[in-house]
Amino acid sequence: MNSDVTTTPAWKSLQEQRDRFDSISLRELFDSEPNRVDELTVAAGDLVVDLSKQRVDSAVMRALLDLAEQTGVARARAAMLSGEHINVTEDRAVLHTALRLPRDSELVVDGVEVVAQVHAVLDRMGEFTDRVRSGAWRGATGEKITTVVNIGIGGSDLGPAMATRALRRFCDGPQVRFVSNVDPADLTAALADLDPATTVFVVASKTFSTLETLSNATAARRWLVDALGEDAVAAHFVAVSTDTDRVRAFGIDPAHMFEFWDWVGGRYSVGSAIGLSVMCAIGRERFGQFLAGMHAIDTHFATAEPDRNAPLLAGLIGVWNASLLGYRSRAVVPYSQDLGRLPAYLQQLTMESNGKSVRADGTAVSCPTGEVFWGEPGTNGQHAFFQLLHQGTEVVPVDFLGFARAGEGQDLPARDGDVTMQQLLLANMFAQAKVLAFGRDAGEVRGDGTAEELVAHKVMPGDRPSTTILAPELTPSVLGQIIAFYEHQTFVQGVVWGIDSFDQWGVELGKAQATALQAVLAGDATPDTGDASTDRLITTYRTLRDG
Ligand code: F6P
Repeated sequence: MNSDVTTTPAWKSLQEQRDRFDSISLRELFDSEPNRVDELTVAAGDLVVDLSKQRVDSAVMRALLDLAEQTGVARARAAMLSGEHINVTEDRAVLHTALRLPRDSELVVDGVEVVAQVHAVLDRMGEFTDRVRSGAWRGATGEKITTVVNIGIGGSDLGPAMATRALRRFCDGPQVRFVSNVDPADLTAALADLDPATTVFVVASKTFSTLETLSNATAARRWLVDALGEDAVAAHFVAVSTDTDRVRAFGIDPAHMFEFWDWVGGRYSVGSAIGLSVMCAIGRERFGQFLAGMHAIDTHFATAEPDRNAPLLAGLIGVWNASLLGYRSRAVVPYSQDLGRLPAYLQQLTMESNGKSVRADGTAVSCPTGEVFWGEPGTNGQHAFFQLLHQGTEVVPVDFLGFARAGEGQDLPARDGDVTMQQLLLANMFAQAKVLAFGRDAGEVRGDGTAEELVAHKVMPGDRPSTTILAPELTPSVLGQIIAFYEHQTFVQGVVWGIDSFDQWGVELGKAQATALQAVLAGDATPDTGDASTDRLITTYRTLRDG
């Protein structure tokens, strides 16, 4: 397959379409394409994905589907799902989809049947979870566990932290807290009101070598041992990792370790044992529903026709926006306070995956890659950054996510009439997407009787693209579907751009430099770090530290 997307015929066609698009408004597109909403609204599992407010028309969509074909998306998808080593720079399979295969399926990868392995670990997670939740698992002093503290960072934190918050109304087990940052304030705040006798730590790290996690885990262990003695570690520490030797070396019995595999990337790992803290919070049955939701979208992605395939279409439109229209960032705005951590989760998923300047074969990319993801829940975002989205000079496509129903017991009557607060929330979401797309021109503003000197200020330019993702309710299954929907978009984009979405070499040098600098900070020798700015910052740090 062609790894330089810009040399494909479809790319050339898209470049021509882009020039045409400069002068076409979304209003015109809605007028000239009567079937637009039907054609650009796709269902995937419980998700209804409305792409009609994106700046595309049927010709662009055809060219984007040609682009998928000419860059080999379907072949790459089959390769991923069958366990080929598509993570070429690390020579690994990429099989997060195997984590959610039903128990009776089979998948042999590198000579090993992985579905049985996956379910064996899920069963062990379930047994542990049941014991913690029922009180059968006792701390060293015989007390019931009331708090689980997950210590991990990146994919070993963001997925479980995001999911636990998203599903907080289903959390009926021990309280679950997350510690990630090596900033000591994170751990000390998390432990401040906890009793070591009733606390279990889940040390979650794929490699079990991550500086932040090992520092926090070591400090947590000291906190526990100071209170309860060395023998207490066994009842209060479990590990989630791929590396048994390092877990043992840290002092956690491998019998208390939940395994996963190098074919699960950190940012794709929430469905693996990395989700143990989520399972503790919501129980094994609901965790099963979460995995089933992911699997439903995996199946959709694998089998839906290209023009009805939601992750494929959304991923391709992301390429169109970022690489051709020059819209370099995407705002994710969930109209759900429970999804408050979704933007942060998606930042790692998408930006660590596709923030690359070279292709998988090591050659430089020839178009912009990797959208910058950011966001906050609506309606809060409306009172913060939406001014720029509506009238700023930068066009930022938006993903709106909303739910038809609030969770049971979550909805309340609004101030006025028969409207509920959930309806108010959704009305806001629909209104924002509508205004972004269709704007308000000077004639309409004047028609409102606006004073002439304010007309320019009140004009809303419109033509600001968005996707609206609507689902019945935020349940474990629907959350799983949302995650898989974004995972597969990320995959599609990586294939089109020709990059390896599953490595992250760009984070390594910073880690090595931090390790080298920590000794310099702790010592008092004149710094000689190789650059004058860092040397000066270190001497300034010492002056400030010493008061
Ligand atoms: O940020 C780099 C990274 O390797 C991520 O990809 C990963 O999710 C995170 O660090 C944590 O890694 P680990 O789970 O090995 O501690």
